[in-house]
Amino acid sequence: MTDPHNSPQLHSPPDLLALDAAHVWHPFTQAQTAPVPTVIVRGEGPYLYTAGGDTLLDMVSSWWVNLHGHAHPHVAEAIARQARQLEHVIFAGFTHAPAVTLAARLAGHLPRGLDRIFYSDNGSTAVEVALKIALQAWYNRAEPRRHILAFEGGYHGDTFGAMSAGRTSGFFLPFQDKLFDVSFLPFPQTWQGDPEVEAKEHASLAALDLVLEQHAGDVAALIAEPLVQGSSGMRMCRPQFLAEVLRRVKATGAFIIFDEVMTGFARTGRMWAGQHLEPYGDTASAISTAPDLMCLSKGLTGGFLPLGVTACTEELYAEFRGDTFERAFAHGHSYTANPLACAAALASLDLLEADTTWDAIAAIGAAHARWLPELAAHPHLHRVRQLGTIAAVQLRGAGGYGGHASLELRTFFQNRGLLLRPLGDTLYLLPPYCVKDEHLEVAYGAILDAAQLFGAAETGAVST
Ligand SMILES: Cc1ncc(COP(=O)(O)O)c(C=O)c1O
Repeated sequence: MTDPHNSPQLHSPPDLLALDAAHVWHPFTQAQTAPVPTVIVRGEGPYLYTAGGDTLLDMVSSWWVNLHGHAHPHVAEAIARQARQLEHVIFAGFTHAPAVTLAARLAGHLPRGLDRIFYSDNGSTAVEVALKIALQAWYNRAEPRRHILAFEGGYHGDTFGAMSAGRTSGFFLPFQDKLFDVSFLPFPQTWQGDPEVEAKEHASLAALDLVLEQHAGDVAALIAEPLVQGSSGMRMCRPQFLAEVLRRVKATGAFIIFDEVMTGFARTGRMWAGQHLEPYGDTASAISTAPDLMCLSKGLTGGFLPLGVTACTEELYAEFRGDTFERAFAHGHSYTANPLACAAALASLDLLEADTTWDAIAAIGAAHARWLPELAAHPHLHRVRQLGTIAAVQLRGAGGYGGHASLELRTFFQNRGLLLRPLGDTLYLLPPYCVKDEHLEVAYGAILDAAQLFGAAETGAVST
């Protein structure tokens, strides 16, 4: 008899699912109530192929990581080539071409001044590194500012620093007493035709002024997901608001950390979401809208391999130079700057730099803009919003993350051949850049049908 645990031929779905149920712990999943996971055997372009013979159109880029489509041959070949050359080497005291070339190419794309690249493993670690650099920079200056500012609803990952800064995302109740103190500013989320946006922004700026006064001289950094809060439901704010926040925070000397883990690599129609702030820069005081630190991951490798980057200014880097190790940044991961991941990132950048990719990004944005008025007119949908390739809408009466309706909606979309995972009552599209109008048409058709089936009119009546 074959031992299923050791069999090299483990590919029949029943075997896989039995072993999955026996041994695997899935992320963000309540195993007791979740449906059996779908076995995926292959990916190509925007499609995922299931072991059961179904095809799924990936409309969320597999948790926002995929840029150019699944198993893109250019990235796959770059990884294979690199694997035959050098798979990994310790990155303290050693360096290699993929990491150096990637750092230089990223610096060429990043906002001016963000020339220094620290590598880690994922979005959470990129955030931890940014927070630690900001705090240690003040420590090294012998001016130990300790306070961190963040926005309500922000999400920055699942490690302790990231959880502290994302405490209000609602995912971290069991750890509340272990998280460090952060001041949270109201996030003036807005949507198309929102008459109250200015009042909300005004209230948020007033709250900011109060916090800056209460913690005068102690604010080390502000961390923000620029313009789009992903995990809390693709909540968007206006660039002029964020530019004003930056102006006020920078005036205190505190550092700005932009967490572009989700928004980076053109999701918002520009390479970085922060670029949308540029027209609102304060030329009079010469305070730029660029952050001091930026966190990248997800799309960095085109969705192929885990890799995190924390980019910072040369001025910040200089704070860590000195004659003793005590000033150095004592942080590093075993797989720092993994050559395979760097090779994937370089290949992904090749694709991202092509004009055809930017044409595709513009086409996705244009398709969203064509469909959104129909969504806005539906009685069960509201708060329509879009930035670049990201489009989102609220479904009335659908409940919160992990709620019944949200789970049923996942199944509904999957039965329609779509990987489309609502965040609570937020229905959103964040597709890879290889999707075409016809793919978006399928997705929007399904969203409108879902609105009809699962939504409720404003009165609270549930539709049948
Ligand atoms: C804005 C943002 N920051 C950080 C993270 C954490 O990234 P990771 O899941 O790679 O740790 C996420 C993940 O969704 C994110 O959306």
